[in-house]
Amino acid sequence: MRARRADPLRYYLASRAAVWHAGPPRPPIVFVMLFNHFIHRSFKTPCLTSGWAAAVLLSLGLGGAVTASAQSMPLAPATGVATAGSPPGRPASVAAGDMASRVLACTVCHGKEGRATPDGYFPRIAGKPAGYLANQLLNFRDGRRTYPQMTYLIEHLTDEYLHEMAGHFAALDLPYAPPPPPQAPAATLEQGRRLVERGDAARDVPACVACHGAAMTGVQPSLPGLLGLPRDYLNSQLGAWKTGQRRAQAPDCMAAIARQLTPEEVSAVSAWLAAQPVGGGGKPASTLPAPMPLRCGGVAAIPVASATAR
Ligand code: HEC
Ligand code: HEC
Repeated sequence: MRARRADPLRYYLASRAAVWHAGPPRPPIVFVMLFNHFIHRSFKTPCLTSGWAAAVLLSLGLGGAVTASAQSMPLAPATGVATAGSPPGRPASVAAGDMASRVLACTVCHGKEGRATPDGYFPRIAGKPAGYLANQLLNFRDGRRTYPQMTYLIEHLTDEYLHEMAGHFAALDLPYAPPPPPQAPAATLEQGRRLVERGDAARDVPACVACHGAAMTGVQPSLPGLLGLPRDYLNSQLGAWKTGQRRAQAPDCMAAIARQLTPEEVSAVSAWLAAQPVGGGGKPASTLPAPMPLRCGGVAAIPVASATAR
């Protein structure tokens, strides 16, 4: 968990809410909601009302975690020292009902059980590799990815707590909706397909399937699938890697790859990927048939081709 000196008022409100939250009445969480709304009003987000709803649910479910975290680090605001680990007195394993209430806030945006909504932006989280989900929660908490309304919910949670939530969503096995009809001309879709399946060796663009798996459903434990995601979300992620707004743990292989793609190529790849049906129930493969073409941070378990390992 982290304490941010840079934003003491925000920290104060969150930690007060956490402390007061320990017992009824709960109204102080309203201040956090108001503050949350106030600071995020200026962000262009697709989900302001969801942010409110999530804050309410946070006060009911996830808030218990913030309470536990706050109790474990009473000096953090003064020292700014990040602490991680289990708060004293909290059992190592989480009861199913406890987890269900914890993650209720998440489903406001990510859809029932994290299976995404038809709104067209929020990514599905159910059934993705646990290591990938955990890496993303750490990325949001630690500032390598940004979505203020979500970061706000998790910024005071411990590594252990984030891993538990990642494990919960990863273990869900839920059907995927059929893809929407293709939203680009045939030539554009073909350009997208070629890049995904073959890459462009002359320009140092590896085939996406070399890491994301031949079925594009990801690889355990930390490589995500590329199917079942909205086109807008894919465009936005690749664009964010190009501009440095999304970062992964170093070395950030996806940043290197996204920077090689032109905006037209990003658009073609996203259009093609978003129109593909998800095969095999979307289950991530257990291994890659060949080493990865580049080294990627946070994916330690998978071998890298020695010629390009760096
Ligand atoms: C206010 C809406 C909102 C809430 C509430 C929310 N999220 Fe998110 N989440 C998002 C959005 C939007 C993104 C994509 C952000 C981006 O553009 O990078 C995201 C991304 C993610 C990702 C990365 C997905 C991927 O494929 O890379 C994970 C994991 C995630 N959220 C987990 C959670 C969990 C766990 C919770 C509950 C603690 C939660 N989210 C609550 C909106 C939300
Ligand atoms: C060298 C291995 C590698 C190759 C090749 C690769 N990726 Fe990735 N990709 C990754 C890793 C690792 C991640 C997870 C990064 C993180 O932890 O944030 C990722 C994440 C992504 C995500 C984010 C998924 C989500 O749910 O938010 C997208 C989109 C993506 N890659 C698209 C592509 C495309 C398109 C290509 C081909 C042009 C490609 N990748 C090629 C390793 C690779």
